[in-house]
Amino acid sequence: MTEDHLVVTDIHKSLGALAVLKGISFTLKPGEIVSLLGHSGSGKTTLLRAVAGLETPELGSITMGGESLLDSNTGINLPPERRGLGLVFQSYALWPHRTVFDNIAYGLALRKTPQHQIKARVEEVLAKIGLAGLGTRYPHQISGGQQQRVALARAIVYRPPVLLLDEPLSNLDAKLREEARIWLRELIQQFNLSALYVTHDQVEAMAVSDRILFLRNGTIQQQGTPEDIYLQPTSAVSAEFMGVNNILSGEVIIKDGTAVLTGAGWRLAGQLRGASTDQTITAKGFFRVERSRLCSKEGSNSIEVDVLRSVFLGERYEYVLRLAGVSLRAWGVKRLDPGRYWIDMRPEDVWIFPD
Ligand SMILES: Nc1ncnc2c1ncn2[C@@H]1O[C@H](COP(=O)(O)OP(=O)(O)O)[C@@H](O)[C@H]1O
Ligand SMILES: [Mg+2]
Repeated sequence: MTEDHLVVTDIHKSLGALAVLKGISFTLKPGEIVSLLGHSGSGKTTLLRAVAGLETPELGSITMGGESLLDSNTGINLPPERRGLGLVFQSYALWPHRTVFDNIAYGLALRKTPQHQIKARVEEVLAKIGLAGLGTRYPHQISGGQQQRVALARAIVYRPPVLLLDEPLSNLDAKLREEARIWLRELIQQFNLSALYVTHDQVEAMAVSDRILFLRNGTIQQQGTPEDIYLQPTSAVSAEFMGVNNILSGEVIIKDGTAVLTGAGWRLAGQLRGASTDQTITAKGFFRVERSRLCSKEGSNSIEVDVLRSVFLGERYEYVLRLAGVSLRAWGVKRLDPGRYWIDMRPEDVWIFPD
């Protein structure tokens, strides 16, 4: 069971006149949870629907455990019900006039599972989602968070080889969503399932998945572990999508292997990422707000900034900064008086991407 489970190869899909997926390839290993992360409109839902069999790509192939689900060369295209994948969508409407038990049992009954097995399996799932004893309730008698668990249980109960989830937590309020991304991952792992998980929320993607595919305009811009994607962006768009960033535009001068970004009255040494050249070129420097420390003195690699305001956010203060007309931010633990400060950066925390 070390081979790839789901293999998606060179998927192309247009909707109307728009090329939505432009050659997407990736794999999913048994037990792996992979997120499709990207801005709204980047093609996440279309890709998930193509895997589910709800969209037919013009080109490409999909195999599952070696079996062909889709092959544009041979014309194979299994309908959704023959792919056996478990789907959980954003609008997880439960049947209002069926009990929690019957909502979960429905998929098993459709699959003609014997009655005694249905009971055992539904009860096992109910216990694992923390709803043991609530099977006789109706959806309106349980909370929104519990309804979301039932929706998930409905897909998990027949043990699909791969669970396909499209923004499954977006109907929950912020607090429930934060809890849900923890139990959701644990639940998927407890049942030894693999999952393809669509979200536009980077924190959710990092918390839930083993690997992230960052989608942009129908292509995979970058893929890797949450740490790879967050800490080692390979492009300006990846850097900008993840985290909270300070961004400075300037000219980059490369000297003796060191890149220095310069602007009106400031210079900052950083790490050159992307095309390297010995000429002066325009570039953007990215540095994460959590790495941007304010000091009252100039440092070895610092920029002088004006602190305009300190905003109290509860667990920290956010400082609103200004450098040559550009707005920057930093965080800290105390209120600062407006005035002049320096941000001192380690060069490895400043990523310079040539334009
Ligand atoms: N039925 C459709 N007809 C035409 N364009 C569509 C259709 N569905 C989605 N699109 C377009 O395809 C692009 C990708 O959509 P989608 O896969 O839903 O993105 P995401 O889930 O990442 O927000 C968007 O530009 C969207 O407007
Ligand atoms: Mg979507």
